[in-house]
Amino acid sequence: MADTLIVVAVDGPAGSGKSSVSKAVAKKLGYAYLDSGAAYRAFAWYVVQRGIDVQDEPAVIRLLADFDYRIGTDPDGYAVFVGEHEVTQAIRDPEVTATVRYVSRVPEVRSHLVELFRRIIRSADAPGIVVEGRDITTVVAPDAPVRLLLTAEEHVRMGRRSAEITTQTASTVAEQLRSRDRADSRVVDFMNAADGVTTVDSTDLDFDQTVNAVIEVIHSHTARI
Ligand code: DC
Repeated sequence: MADTLIVVAVDGPAGSGKSSVSKAVAKKLGYAYLDSGAAYRAFAWYVVQRGIDVQDEPAVIRLLADFDYRIGTDPDGYAVFVGEHEVTQAIRDPEVTATVRYVSRVPEVRSHLVELFRRIIRSADAPGIVVEGRDITTVVAPDAPVRLLLTAEEHVRMGRRSAEITTQTASTVAEQLRSRDRADSRVVDFMNAADGVTTVDSTDLDFDQTVNAVIEVIHSHTARI
């Protein structure tokens, strides 16, 4: 790890653009990038693959000990592995998206993954790392020098997400997004900025403007380091 690794913590709801924006910001700054949601997805994939009912919490918790998870931190492209299986694509399947909420709400799963994220962050070989998710600013890296909430009004987030997912109707995508945000926000509040967290609202910004707005916040905070 670099001596003074700059951790940029980014939280936000689905469709806020946080993954694509965080990746682009990391690329521009020569930082590493960590997609924390990929670990929740990979664990949900693993639970199903092992034939465990995602709602059987004791069995889900027991599986954590065998969960051999690896992820790259290169914003130009990272692979996700569970044991010998490459699951980079599989974790984006609609079945995983629909089941991930059952595992991500389990406190033991969350604390296990939080530790994993902290280990990955500590081993980053770059001047900084952009880490994105739902509880990065509050739980994973509350002491990060830069903490951001990336948001956008609901209709904008839905429009963006349905443009990405062409295999489902816009109304199906909107309903799934709403339902996932409702379930996820019962576990962690990523709709409101915690104390000291800067909000970047991308409702009226295009992609490049959002990336630049985030970089401006990073520069204004890191100038003081
Ligand atoms: O960001 P994503 O859609 O890939 O995240 C997948 C799921 O994981 C999402 O429904 C909420 C959960 N998640 C979480 O609870 N905490 C995080 N830090 C990241 C994701």
